[in-house]
Amino acid sequence: MKILAIETSCDDTSVAIVEDGSYILSSVVSTQLEHNKYGGVVPEIAARAHIQNIIPVLDEAINEAEVTWNDIDAIAVTKGPGLIGSLIVGVNTARTLALLHKKPLIAVHHTEGHIYANWLSKGTTAYKARFPLVCLTVSGGHTNLIYMKDHLQYEIVGETHDDAAGEAYDKVAKLLGLGYPGGPLISLLSEKGDKHKYPFPLVDLTSAPKRDEEGYLRDAEPSLDFSYSGLKTAVLRKIKQLTLNNEHLDEKQKADIAASFQYTTNEILARNLKRAVDKYKPKSILLSGGVAANTKLREQIKSKLETRNSKFTFPERNCCTDNAAMIGAAAYYHALKQDYIDPEELTPDPNYKLT
Ligand code: KG4
Ligand code: ZN
Repeated sequence: MKILAIETSCDDTSVAIVEDGSYILSSVVSTQLEHNKYGGVVPEIAARAHIQNIIPVLDEAINEAEVTWNDIDAIAVTKGPGLIGSLIVGVNTARTLALLHKKPLIAVHHTEGHIYANWLSKGTTAYKARFPLVCLTVSGGHTNLIYMKDHLQYEIVGETHDDAAGEAYDKVAKLLGLGYPGGPLISLLSEKGDKHKYPFPLVDLTSAPKRDEEGYLRDAEPSLDFSYSGLKTAVLRKIKQLTLNNEHLDEKQKADIAASFQYTTNEILARNLKRAVDKYKPKSILLSGGVAANTKLREQIKSKLETRNSKFTFPERNCCTDNAAMIGAAAYYHALKQDYIDPEELTPDPNYKLT
């Protein structure tokens, strides 16, 4: 089954054609560089750029896959969450194409797309996750631990109380004057830094011991939730302390801050993932989302899971950040259940919940 998928939830315009939820026949991503000079995504600019990019990106994806509309079995699109102006462009394009070419239409949640990026393959062997599984999804908008008993069954067992980990990467990059998106730039700069130079707080949301019904104090269960605002503030304080007399950070100081921040952020993620693995004893452990592209994060998780038997996987680097192929992968499992939506009824939802 060949699915043409569209993803426009943030600042990447993307169209892909994916066969059987795994094989990428084409995947075109047009990244909007217009936002770099503002240090973050400007919603109005993003929406306008999607309108300009969507048709050329669509044509390129069809040409690259060497298919015609007759070969396409269904159309999939990100319904949400995301920026409303951006989502509208993808959803309206998908609705129009579905009506025009009389194809079934599938609505996909952005996070489920990130999870299913793990099933994508450019080769001939499809990935087979074993259920139950635990997936850590870390992007610019979300930091979630998700437990899945089977395909499309999601239980969020850990989430952030404030900033997402990718957002923290972007904000710290801004404090260091590095540019946007911050994650890859912090990662590059960290190579020249000492990760132990500044011991930033390893924020742990495990609460104080609680009293049971009989009044006895019981140890609190380890929390699977995250918080990144405290870490971000600690970095800001350190920068202020180092630049008290209006001095500028030198390159070594910047690299040490980047490396120490990256190490701490990743350690919090890896530690909570390990806790979830200990609690749920999954057969597969997945990592996904833009921050999953971070090599050190993969290494830190691997070293924590060394003694576990479950298989740990993560998508290819270019499938970690936003792309339409991941939407096509998730859509395949909806199509198997004939989970289609009437084009007249599909609306974008910036706060779409994963259920
Ligand atoms: O999944 P994604 O492309 O978009 C959202 O759904 O948010 O994730 C983007 C986020 C950004 O915050 C970006 O800084 C981060 O992923 N990111 C990285 C790396 N590559 C992208 N963070 C750390 N290390 C990387 N190599
Ligand atoms: Zn994303």
